[in-house]
Amino acid sequence: MTANPSQTGRLLHLHGPTSDVFVDVSAGVPIIVHWGGHRVGNFDAVLLDRPLVGGAADVVPLVAVVPEHASGFSGRPGLLGHRADGSAGAPRFQPDGHELTTDDLNTGDGGARLVVRARDEIAELAITVTIELRHALVVWAEVTNLGTDDYALNALTITLPIPQHVAELGTFTGRWTREVHPVRVAWPHGAHSFENRTGRTSHEHPPLIFAGTAGYSEWQGSVWGAHIAWSGNHTILAERLPDGRRLLQLGELLHPGEISLTPGESYRTPEMVGVHSEHGLTAATQQFHRHLRARSTHPSTARPVIVNTWEAVYFEHDLATLLALAERAAKVGAERFVLDDGWFGARRDDRAGLGDWVVSTDVYPDGLTPLIDHVRQLGMEFGLWVEPEMVNPDSDLYRAHPEWTLATAGYEPVTSRHQLVLDLTRSDAYLHVLGHIDALLGAHDIAFLKWDMNRDHIAASQATGAAGTHAQTRAVYRLLDELRSKHPLVEIESCSSGGARIDHEILRRTQRVWASDCNDPLERQTIQRGISMLIPPELMGAHVGDRRSHTTGRQHDLGFRAATAMFGHLGIESNLLALNDVELEELAEVVALHRRLRPLLHGGDTVRLDTEAAYLAHGVYAADRSEAMVSFAVMTTAFSLTPPPLLLPGLDPNRAYRVERLDLPGASSRQPGRTLPAWCEPGGVIATGAALAAVGLQIPAMNPDSAVLIHLTSR
Ligand code: GLA
Repeated sequence: MTANPSQTGRLLHLHGPTSDVFVDVSAGVPIIVHWGGHRVGNFDAVLLDRPLVGGAADVVPLVAVVPEHASGFSGRPGLLGHRADGSAGAPRFQPDGHELTTDDLNTGDGGARLVVRARDEIAELAITVTIELRHALVVWAEVTNLGTDDYALNALTITLPIPQHVAELGTFTGRWTREVHPVRVAWPHGAHSFENRTGRTSHEHPPLIFAGTAGYSEWQGSVWGAHIAWSGNHTILAERLPDGRRLLQLGELLHPGEISLTPGESYRTPEMVGVHSEHGLTAATQQFHRHLRARSTHPSTARPVIVNTWEAVYFEHDLATLLALAERAAKVGAERFVLDDGWFGARRDDRAGLGDWVVSTDVYPDGLTPLIDHVRQLGMEFGLWVEPEMVNPDSDLYRAHPEWTLATAGYEPVTSRHQLVLDLTRSDAYLHVLGHIDALLGAHDIAFLKWDMNRDHIAASQATGAAGTHAQTRAVYRLLDELRSKHPLVEIESCSSGGARIDHEILRRTQRVWASDCNDPLERQTIQRGISMLIPPELMGAHVGDRRSHTTGRQHDLGFRAATAMFGHLGIESNLLALNDVELEELAEVVALHRRLRPLLHGGDTVRLDTEAAYLAHGVYAADRSEAMVSFAVMTTAFSLTPPPLLLPGLDPNRAYRVERLDLPGASSRQPGRTLPAWCEPGGVIATGAALAAVGLQIPAMNPDSAVLIHLTSR
């Protein structure tokens, strides 16, 4: 598809690989008049001109990318702020030029960039809005203070108009060990809003929202999705205006006083990444995946299978045990061994030592080298857990520098997991942390950092007393960037008490996210489904845990645990020393299967399939549709004895596929005395993509808490 920006009447037309955007730049701040799939062709804005009506202003309020109260818009304005005397509270911008280019956006599929400038000479502010259409729609704005005094900025958010026939919102909820659970709601009158003040993307409200036509599903209906690519605080608003128009508004949430622009200073919003499909949610979310995969920072090597020590030993680090664990890790086919929390300072539990990034000589008298050497000799990479943004009050660092925390002077700080946030906006604290992590990486053969962040920001103030989450988030990005440029081969995982820091901006500088501290596959099926709506599977850490889940107490056979973890960046989070030979052999088979299928699993198109509520089905189709793997999981008992046939839309309708069951070791889903559908028997069956989409595939009778894997290869 070639890029083809053009102009019709007052509309500029951005033509992207999968969608079209029409923008009106005549008013000042641009207005996205239409954002949808191809087929629209050109049209004139007069088509959508709204009539003046009684009981309202004598102008039609515009829903611009940054809507203005001063132009009659009565919803939440996109720009909120004022000067010390209270002026400039309701600016009205005038056009100041624009450029539309078919820039090289590196998508390989074309794309366009529109930069629109506007000024308000009275409020002495300038605004620049950039709209890029690539695999996704990317929009950001920048406001500049043109005045001679400070401008207190309260909010600058991005607004996307959504067509009025859109009726439902796809939102999320969650908590620790139960992240990113999708919640569907009817779009209410007024506004539905989420405000995240945790200083990370949060367990509760990930920076993601969808809007769709009534009853939209994975493969049906028109869907719009929006993500704010930012790892600090955020705000999401879905508003239905009194006149019937609808919009999504996303941006950074700023605390009072957090940003004050000095004369000439600017604030730039995080990127808002939007996706759209007229064929359901799956196609929309694939655009998020393509958007990430097209970036130069996306990992391009096979994702190494990990063994992580956390649930195997917790804080009980003992060299002999870890050496033995590493041997077992190599034996089951792991490619990276990650030493979790507990290796440094006085960190024998979570009450002390955080901030002291020196190897504990109590636990490792000869340092980490004996363990690292052993791991390397076994043919694995070595990874290490760190939490550089934090400090325990019971630490040498805190004793030396109690003033280095992000806390409000004079108030007793609220601890969380017995820790405080280090103020990385201070150059002394920043350089201290940079120096220690840099030295660790310089002195050891470390391929991977599990970079954790285990508490919310609460009254996180800088030394000046001003709220510090914005500056801290930028400082964390800087720290990661600086370490990456010094150690470009070291991969980093974004972990935050599980999955509390997952967004596209942290993923510019990290190669993996930890999805959840819950490894119970029943929970993980839903958690990973939610996360798959934002990022592709190769970036999502998914581990096979112990038979009895450490966070739920439920027990699951290896088959279900493996089928669930198989699709992500696979790891094992289990005490391998407690497994017998048969169990180790089964785990080795799982790892071997994953490694064999990895190019498909981590390179194909993620699909989620529509099922009845008792089931969850998802999979991955090779881009050329020559191969596919699908998981069908039974989440609870259902009303019917047998699941209905599973419809598999989106394969190549004209190809014949061999459909086979992938046998996972340790699975106990077969019910005694029951027959299996023919495709589950050796050799499988042959079916066309068209038949699989329209007729489906009969699923065997299965126990709850089990999954079957379906492998399809075109003939
Ligand atoms: C967080 C992480 C866990 C583990 C612990 C260590 O909770 O999410 O995976 O690393 O910290 O303290």
